[in-house]
Amino acid sequence: MTDPGLALYKMSLDDKNAFWGECAKLIDWYQPWETVLDESNKPFYRWFSQGKLNTCFNAVDRHVNNGRGEQLAIRYFSPVTDTEYAVTYAELQAQVSRLAGYMQSIGVTKGDRVVIYMPMIPETVYAMLACARLGAIHSVVFGGFAANELATRINDAKPKLVLSASCGVEPSGVVPYKPLLDKALQQSEHQPSNCLILQRSQYQAELQQPRDHDWQQSVCQAPAVDCVAVEATDPLYILYTSGTTGQPKGVVRDNGGHAVALAWSMKHIYDIQAGDTFWAASDVGWVVGHSYIVYAPLLVGATTVLYEGKPVGTPDPGVFWKTIERYQVKSFFTAPTAIRAIKREDPNGEFVAKADLTCLNSLFLAGERCDPDTLNWASEKLGKPVIDHWWQTETGWPVAANLMGVEQITIKPGSPARAVPGYQVEVLDEFGEQVSAGQSGNVAIKLPLPPGTLTTLWQNDKRYVDSYLSMYPGYYLTGDAGYMDEDGYLYIMSRIDDIINVAGHRLSTGRFEEVLCQHAAVAEAAVIGVDDNLKGQVPLGLVVLKNGVDISEDQLHKELVALVRQEIGPVAAFKLVSAVQKLPKTRSGKILRGTMRKIADNKDFTPPATIEDPQTLDLVRSALTRMGYADALLKQHA
Ligand code: COA
Ligand code: AMP
Repeated sequence: MTDPGLALYKMSLDDKNAFWGECAKLIDWYQPWETVLDESNKPFYRWFSQGKLNTCFNAVDRHVNNGRGEQLAIRYFSPVTDTEYAVTYAELQAQVSRLAGYMQSIGVTKGDRVVIYMPMIPETVYAMLACARLGAIHSVVFGGFAANELATRINDAKPKLVLSASCGVEPSGVVPYKPLLDKALQQSEHQPSNCLILQRSQYQAELQQPRDHDWQQSVCQAPAVDCVAVEATDPLYILYTSGTTGQPKGVVRDNGGHAVALAWSMKHIYDIQAGDTFWAASDVGWVVGHSYIVYAPLLVGATTVLYEGKPVGTPDPGVFWKTIERYQVKSFFTAPTAIRAIKREDPNGEFVAKADLTCLNSLFLAGERCDPDTLNWASEKLGKPVIDHWWQTETGWPVAANLMGVEQITIKPGSPARAVPGYQVEVLDEFGEQVSAGQSGNVAIKLPLPPGTLTTLWQNDKRYVDSYLSMYPGYYLTGDAGYMDEDGYLYIMSRIDDIINVAGHRLSTGRFEEVLCQHAAVAEAAVIGVDDNLKGQVPLGLVVLKNGVDISEDQLHKELVALVRQEIGPVAAFKLVSAVQKLPKTRSGKILRGTMRKIADNKDFTPPATIEDPQTLDLVRSALTRMGYADALLKQHA
């Protein structure tokens, strides 16, 4: 029997030009490309060179031109502000073209950067699309990040304009964004010439003349402007993501490859077409939000749901299911952590049973490893396929997934299934040799990566090559470790670097350590990710104090938790920290974070032969026990 998924996969690798050339017909081009895959500057592969298009035209205008103007483009639902409304494609076009008109009037043109620091409201989508319309490069910064993180990104991207809102609204209350933006701009060397601020009714921001402008007033006076043709290879956006150092990596996405790959993925992976309703319950500040709240659903003429709320508590654990019923969502995407939060409050699925989910075809999960318990709970309660799929900010769209639009799927809990067409995924040992089925190794993707994946890091080709391409020449290193079974199903088990994943949010332990070391009492710090029943992982810090420092454990804890919140942001969820006399290290001075993690999570380990002082492991064990980890966790679970 033929396997359509496998046949498609083979086609995608055997003749990349034919495969992606055909897929590119999903997009409207002003000028066709000369080469599908441009290998003239390896390892900087480019897709659809010399082709010209506009991503906003493809996501908005062409649907209006094709008679879909009255169809809903966005359904906005905000239980935290008790607001709900819909935006048609024609209305979206009017909003975006006027915002672009305003931006153009203050001098924003193709190639300029625009930072967007905004909550989950339709204006954020307008902002991204308005940049795309002009060929300006947007960089969205997640609202849960602190001023300092925003400043780092502003300094790197050097925007001409910042688009922001007066506040975000969290279940805990209003989060004023404008004071955070002001603080970031005080800290950053680079200064944008203008900031456009959307005043929300929950909080009135102070505007500083002449830099700040009121969104509503400015945009209503602006002329509507048309889409600007850009090269397929021109950047559409920069999205910063955590690397192993405190300096985030600015992932660069192009226009052409991105539009083609996302449109292809909607049909083949998510089984979504024009007129369907798709909902990704994430945030536009993350890659899931970029790809599957904004660009992909709009590129194919579907309706996207923009949700400003949480899986639980806004108001209850049934909000996802009721919203799916109300909007007739066909395919739903969230993070496993959201399902764990729901399961904790509604273990028997009583809220699931209250909603009519006939409309729903499947639930997609990504952002972190999905434990089989969570997957099994969701598939049992929903009675629908629950698809774990794996990808990263860098790839922009799924690397491994079951293809809902192509084949009869087989789900193996714990596995995000097989590699998606376009991605030649291999599991390699330390010498770059493929390991056999079932054996663990580093997960790598043979170059070239397919369209829609990162083209480089913003103004840092060297870091791009060093971080991703240098360990295995000819391959992209994903940074994930795992194995593949004899059917080609991947199992992504952990990171090989110092990145942790907190509630689906990717954070760098190196950045936490930098911040802890800013404290006057701290000489040295080590941060690890420890297992957490809700968030998957949470950060845990161990610090060594400077000689002669006199501070109580309680006071130290309070100050360090506050410092991380102030420097990285609330999203860091940093609550566990304790002092130790000495950190475990190798004789060459490398901190044994992996060993500490194993102690914390009660996993078997052998102390490395190169350990400098084996007694430090006992110090760590007792500190972890005091924090409720290591032995204490065993006892709790016994
Ligand atoms: N703006 C300002 N603050 C924000 C924010 C935003 N956009 N997003 C989160 N925060 C704050 C929260 O208010 C919270 O602050 P607090 O410490 O004052 O309570 C903190 O950041 C942590 O938020 P969150 O990660 O949402 O955790 P939580 O404990 O409030 O809720 C879950 C737990 C599981 C419900 C929540 O993490 C969740 O919905 N996860 C889904 C994950 C997801 O969508 N990931 C995206 C990748 S696919
Ligand atoms: P981000 O770049 O923030 O999207 O985070 C990407 C990282 O999250 C990946 O490199 C993995 O470590 C992890 N991840 C995402 N999805 C999955 C998944 N389905 N299974 C296992 N890990 C995942």
